[in-house]
Amino acid sequence: MLHLFPLFSIVGLILVVLGIALGARRRRRKRKAAAGRIPSEFEELVGMTSRQERDFVRHYAAHDFTGEGAIVDLGCWMGSFTLPLAFGLRKNPRLSGRKIGLHAYDLFRWQDWMNQSLAKTRWAGRYKEGDDFRDAFVEQVAPVADLVTIHAGDLNKETWDHTEPIEYLVIDAMKSWELTNSVVRNFFPALRPRLSLVHHQDFVHYYTPWIHLIMHRFRNYFEPLTYVPEGSFIFTYREAIPRALLEKPYGFDDFSAEEAADAFEYSLTLVPAEARENVYAARIMMHIHRQDWTAARADLERVQAAGIPQGRELTLVSGLLDNHKE
Ligand SMILES: C[S@@+](CC[C@H](N)C(=O)[O-])C[C@H]1O[C@@H](n2cnc3c(N)ncnc32)[C@H](O)[C@@H]1O
Repeated sequence: MLHLFPLFSIVGLILVVLGIALGARRRRRKRKAAAGRIPSEFEELVGMTSRQERDFVRHYAAHDFTGEGAIVDLGCWMGSFTLPLAFGLRKNPRLSGRKIGLHAYDLFRWQDWMNQSLAKTRWAGRYKEGDDFRDAFVEQVAPVADLVTIHAGDLNKETWDHTEPIEYLVIDAMKSWELTNSVVRNFFPALRPRLSLVHHQDFVHYYTPWIHLIMHRFRNYFEPLTYVPEGSFIFTYREAIPRALLEKPYGFDDFSAEEAADAFEYSLTLVPAEARENVYAARIMMHIHRQDWTAARADLERVQAAGIPQGRELTLVSGLLDNHKE
């Protein structure tokens, strides 16, 4: 028995060392996770973005942003991306002392549908349709006000100096073809290949099918980077888009049925299973925007026949079809 003692002690020693190593790894992982997270005070930040999306932009600004271009937040609303982006910038060791442009654009005109995002917050009931809500943005981003330039105005008219590179372009304002064309014409020329990222917050929103059409049309110039729950897709700008393609105005009629079908198939390959329903909903919405109710109904039936689980977004477009009287 005695001769087994050294064996037990060696095994014991190995187990102790393994335990210490695993504990250290767990602590390192926890620290890493904590470093990428928004400080707890921002979990309560009022906004239409998810915690994962806020974490993503903060982590990007702190670790990946080089400072060679500006950060532009289109459709900033009350700043739920602006604030984490600015906090990330403050933590970015590459930027020490350098003044970085963080530009927030919005119309700052209240619309009643925005009220749903204010329920149970201190802002509830403060604004009515048409009110200027810029003060709410200013109040929320107060801790980082020194980093933020506010552009209050209509993005259909706003312009950007194309010689000023944009390194990170957040788009949460492509709510129509007109806005899509303005963003493409006025902001895309400032993107720089192999530097810039484009963050589409509405990538899987049912209402915005033009995003799928335009990003598919430009697919050779962008590389898909990642999906961020609950709705964002990030693209890397790979190669310069010819100026003529940026200046041309686009609409549904610029896309054949085949190209549109390919565009949605492409988007479906980019997002995880749980977000695909939304892409199908956007495809049906394309027909609704075009007032082609027959095609919309046929598409919904095709999606249902394929057994695609019907969640919030498909229910929404299905409701639009039910309520439409020919
Ligand atoms: C879905 S919200 C954005 C949410 C925001 N990104 C956040 O962090 O919570 C869309 C925003 O786009 C803005 N918007 C819509 N049309 C606009 C336009 N023509 N010009 C400027 N901003 C516009 C709205 O005022 C609204 O704040």
